[in-house]
Amino acid sequence: EFQENTVITVFGASGDLAKKKTFPALFGLFREGHLSASTKIYGYARSHLSIEELKSRIRPFLKTPTEESKSKVEPFLDLISYISGPYDTNEGFIKLNDDIVKFEKDAKVEEPHRLFYLALPPSVFVDVAKQLKENVYATNGVTRIIVEKPFGHDLKSSRELQEQLAPLFKEEELFRIDHYLGKEMVKNLLNLRFGNQFLNSSWNKESIQSIQVSFKEPFGTEGRGGYFDSIGIIRDVIQNHLLQVLTLLTIEPPKSYDSESVRDEKVKLLKAIKPLDFNDLIVGQYTASEDGTKPSYLDDETVNPGSKAVTFAAIPLYIDNERWSGVPIVLRAGKALDVGKVEIRIQYKPTSPEVPSNELVIRIQPSEAIYIKLNTKQPGLSTSSTIVDLDLTYKNRFENFWIPEAYESLIRDSLRGDHSNFVRDDELDESWALFTPLLNHLESDSAPAPILYPYGSRGPKELSSFLEKHGYVFSETTYQWPVTKPS
Ligand code: BG6
Repeated sequence: EFQENTVITVFGASGDLAKKKTFPALFGLFREGHLSASTKIYGYARSHLSIEELKSRIRPFLKTPTEESKSKVEPFLDLISYISGPYDTNEGFIKLNDDIVKFEKDAKVEEPHRLFYLALPPSVFVDVAKQLKENVYATNGVTRIIVEKPFGHDLKSSRELQEQLAPLFKEEELFRIDHYLGKEMVKNLLNLRFGNQFLNSSWNKESIQSIQVSFKEPFGTEGRGGYFDSIGIIRDVIQNHLLQVLTLLTIEPPKSYDSESVRDEKVKLLKAIKPLDFNDLIVGQYTASEDGTKPSYLDDETVNPGSKAVTFAAIPLYIDNERWSGVPIVLRAGKALDVGKVEIRIQYKPTSPEVPSNELVIRIQPSEAIYIKLNTKQPGLSTSSTIVDLDLTYKNRFENFWIPEAYESLIRDSLRGDHSNFVRDDELDESWALFTPLLNHLESDSAPAPILYPYGSRGPKELSSFLEKHGYVFSETTYQWPVTKPS
């Protein structure tokens, strides 16, 4: 199941991502028996920290759901060593390499297996990649590099980054993380679509009226305004996370389920998306909450005064192919909204004007669920129809299952060399090609001002009519969840 004596190095070890995601994911894998006790883990960063200091930063973020798992914390932390060094010169990398070589020699490793996790800001990214190639590359074994977004800021910068990385590492050595691809329900999409004939055969413009992929967060940029201000919600979650979900929802059946066949189909699909219509979308920015307790985006001192950064967007996409032509697919995402929820809503065409449409909802988080709004006769003497949910809520149906967190799942994939849930270079390129013209438009001097919406609301009030215009039918039943029993 796993390779012994693997060496994992986490760059940016003293940072937030490493502390909150990378180390906890490594621990999760260790706790569940998917990472061997023979693994060696290095943390690498510029800060001068003792190993004890690093451990005490990480410890509070390790999840121990059972009594037994508590006993695994210290053995896990004992796998870690810390090396402090610069990112742009070689001394730290030479030291790291010496340590790794010694470890591998002591363990009598014949074919080294080294994974480098770059939890780093883009400014030092290429420097580290160069140093790795020069000083720590496993010439007679396997080297794999996990990289984190942002992969550039637009099409041009993404290509520049790629041009710098390509001579250093082969595409098969690179694992570009889009952590949405590690989420259980996102991994489920192809199984659902192609494993169920009733879905498979109706998964097209003849049956489906509209699709929404919706991302809602109940908090604003709190503390991350400086990062967010030049990025905006489109780069932060739509161009990557939601677009990835969309491709899995809409690709043609791949010729097999290996990573390259699936990614080939994703690229084809991305190429078939029509250019975005700048006049057909909603962009918004949040103001203070109505009761005044929550700040506006512009209250954040780290953002530019008068910033037009977009914290909410609803963008319809159209796929110009036989299956989807004319079906609106709305990607919508917002910060500082009423709830935290990510879901896919697929609305079918009605069978007649009197009967509500079927709707298939795939809830990615929180609490994974799939439910289908189904017309059925009211139980009892009545002959009229009512719409009810056929409900597959995971926590009710699958008790005692370990559902890995996105990062756990993805790190495991990368250790096994499986690229299925990572973003390939050409996919990345297509995603930027699609969004760059819109981003340029929104960031130009003539950009429309974002529509203001209060913190804690559903978003700009234009949203409902906008969604309706794009084929989404609101009805009482759409939002009843869980439905009340028919009386
Ligand atoms: C990140 C974004 O990629 O995804 C964040 O930078 C966002 O702004 C996060 O909050 C959402 O991820 P998740 O897993 O919490 O839904």
